Amino acid sequence: MSSIQIKSKLPNVGTTIFTVMSSLAAQHNAINLGQGFPDYAMSEELIAFVNEAMKTGHNQYVHMNGFMPLREALAEKVEYLYTTDINPDTRITITPGATYAIYTALTTILQPGDEVIVFEPAYDSYIPGIEINGARAVTIQLQFPGYTINWDEVKSKINERTRAIMINSPHNPTGSVLAENDMEQLRALTKDTNIIIVSDEVYEHLIFDNKKHESILKYPDLLEKSLVCFSFGKVYHCTGWKLGYCIAPEYLMKEFRKIHQFNCFTCDAPKQVALSSFLKKRENYIELGSFLQKKRDYFQGLMQQTKLKPLPTYGSYFQVYSYNDLSDESEKDFAFRLTKEQGVATIPVSAFYSSGTDNHVLRFCFSKKESTLEAAVERLIGL
Ligand SMILES: Cc1ncc(COP(=O)(O)O)c(C=O)c1O
Repeated sequence: MSSIQIKSKLPNVGTTIFTVMSSLAAQHNAINLGQGFPDYAMSEELIAFVNEAMKTGHNQYVHMNGFMPLREALAEKVEYLYTTDINPDTRITITPGATYAIYTALTTILQPGDEVIVFEPAYDSYIPGIEINGARAVTIQLQFPGYTINWDEVKSKINERTRAIMINSPHNPTGSVLAENDMEQLRALTKDTNIIIVSDEVYEHLIFDNKKHESILKYPDLLEKSLVCFSFGKVYHCTGWKLGYCIAPEYLMKEFRKIHQFNCFTCDAPKQVALSSFLKKRENYIELGSFLQKKRDYFQGLMQQTKLKPLPTYGSYFQVYSYNDLSDESEKDFAFRLTKEQGVATIPVSAFYSSGTDNHVLRFCFSKKESTLEAAVERLIGL
């Protein structure tokens, strides 16, 4: 072992629960309903577009802010969905995934000592992204079991150090979605303040039961103070592509790009070229919600044969289930046992809380083939 020592930037961080559960799943040959990725095929046509882009010479660096026709196609999409005009030249940057976009957004705005309001349970990259920038996460728990925001509590946590509020709808891990009233509260609370919003909208299209996605992009006053992050991986069933983008007003995007240019500089060219054409086929994203809703309904139907009790989900890849009727074990212990003994991997929701709040619930990913869902539930019936 080397005698050289470094001071950890993230002393409290270990390996993410997704890696832990996926490794345990592989070790025990378990069906992995833990990590959020589809196990079904992505579009052959989009793959063909990538091949075509490679064959026609799109194999060198593209512009550091992203392939312009792709940014233009995104601006068209935003206009079509939210009737908001976005200048693709100054306000959209293509990134290697949404996690990177979120990290860069936080790095763009944070100074040591700043506070950022984070709702928990939260996607696991948020707090490390805040802390590595010397800032502090001020956590607020979503109200169990509906996972809604208590806006009075938010108001009570805002002070002169509050630099940002992070939101995520549809929400990972719970599948809750923000309503129009939440956006009104957010508008009122941030009006005439210096607070910036970092909005994680990777599940923009994965929304069910005729609910409408409350994007920041719909609200000009919020958009003026927001960095909004998206993922192509979640829209086109290709999470391994790690391609996403950020939309922000010009004054924020200018600073975002200063960081981006020395970190990643430019993203995968052939995929950007392919997506710039594929994005024009609107049905691919418009029909996504009903496609995933069918999977949710199918999974819910199957799960009725088990003793696990569903909490509602209105979006994302996920549904949370309570095992209160089955065990007093901690979520982690129960999830480990489920993987080892029943052969089904899930994610304990406590892993998404900095304080480890344990409501005896597990997160299941239903964005899988019907045969995968059937095989997993078959293993859970005996519980
Ligand atoms: C809420 C949320 N944000 C961001 C991401 C990451 O997106 P990407 O793979 O594009 O980095 C995920 C992926 O699971 C997510 O659930």
